[in-house]
Amino acid sequence: MKILLNQMTVFRKGTTQKLSVLVEDGRIVSLSPQVPQMADALVIELKNGTLFPGFVDVHVHLREPGFSRKETIATGTRAAAHGGFTAVCPMPNLKPVPDSLEHLQPQLDLIQRDGVVHVYPYGAITVGEQGKDLADLEGLAPYVVAFSDDGRGVQNSERMRQAMRRAKALGKLIVAHCEDESLVGGGYIHDGAYARAHGHRGNPSASEWKQVERDLALVEETGCAYHVCHVSTKESVELIRQAKAKGLDVTCETTPHYLVFNDTMLQEDGRFKMNPPIRSEADRQALLAGIQDGTVDMVATDHAPHTAEEKAGGLEKSLNGIVGLETAFPVLYTQLVRPGILTLAQLVDLMHTNPAKRFGLGGGLEVGAPADLTVFDLDACYTIRPEDFLSQGKSSPFTGQTVYGKCLLTLSGGTIAWQAKGGDQG
Ligand code: DOR
Repeated sequence: MKILLNQMTVFRKGTTQKLSVLVEDGRIVSLSPQVPQMADALVIELKNGTLFPGFVDVHVHLREPGFSRKETIATGTRAAAHGGFTAVCPMPNLKPVPDSLEHLQPQLDLIQRDGVVHVYPYGAITVGEQGKDLADLEGLAPYVVAFSDDGRGVQNSERMRQAMRRAKALGKLIVAHCEDESLVGGGYIHDGAYARAHGHRGNPSASEWKQVERDLALVEETGCAYHVCHVSTKESVELIRQAKAKGLDVTCETTPHYLVFNDTMLQEDGRFKMNPPIRSEADRQALLAGIQDGTVDMVATDHAPHTAEEKAGGLEKSLNGIVGLETAFPVLYTQLVRPGILTLAQLVDLMHTNPAKRFGLGGGLEVGAPADLTVFDLDACYTIRPEDFLSQGKSSPFTGQTVYGKCLLTLSGGTIAWQAKGGDQG
């Protein structure tokens, strides 16, 4: 199938150009200021649209196999396309946990059958994510993007050391959910002003950064390539800054919710509950400073859908996790780019260039590259409403916010994965 995106505003190399983009057999075959003569192509014109390389989210939960009441590969990848993502990496807290090729296979089959964007699954670090025996890293390596026990930190240092040695030998990243369970103290929101004022049990920042500190020492010892998940604390940012200055092969991600909320903005609602928790304003500022100096490499959503019942228990009793695929770009564009805190080029680096490079996923907007791209109307203004989400998960702290940036079209491998009804109207 041929698709001609006619006379588009294309955001490329930090600037916009008017170009026509011709897609054929899944690849970009021409990018040119002229309109190619193409009788047999589907012509799409989006006059209010700005075309970007498809976003890459290295941290999502698609919940299948095992938890299809929360999300499926079909609904999760449609939500991804609706948010402008063309590549997502689902975490292994599934049933079965992908700790061997046999246990990964059901997920690979569902991805093949139901995925509408590229899906690159993780393999687990330990059997059943139980932190005891190492998973079959060698058997999994050809089929997984990296190794993670996301949802839980690997508590045993010796186990993590062994995992790093084996991942290094396999040329794979270790992607760590850093959480020292002995320091959580039953806390479920940040151990700060809001928790104290409202009688909640606080989860201290040390539960994250102490394990980041431990792992960075192991990275120095083993030489493993290492990536820290969902960084939320200022101390973690500083530790990662120092590790990078030493030349360690370390990267990290943060999420939209840690970049736009602090704990004084919490509400007594499960929509504000996730792990790690939303922390203080000083932490939020440190994450922004980390973006500015290159310590924080990328944004991931940690899209973590649950059922309405599972999120109905307020801050204390709801399960951890919020959805994020369909709000990440509009929220960050509205709250960070429009006020001039970040440039649009920085946001594209955080959501495409840096994750694609670190995880080896996908090309950019170049002739010959896979046609993984998305088009947003940056002037379209609307209110975030969960009923508009394609995700089965509806719990979002961004509900009710007015944002700019509506996704008009997403092509994944040259196939339309999302197209708004009514053309430019979205
Ligand atoms: O909030 C979270 N939700 N944090 C995690 O680490 C796991 C995730 C989930 O799977 O729901």
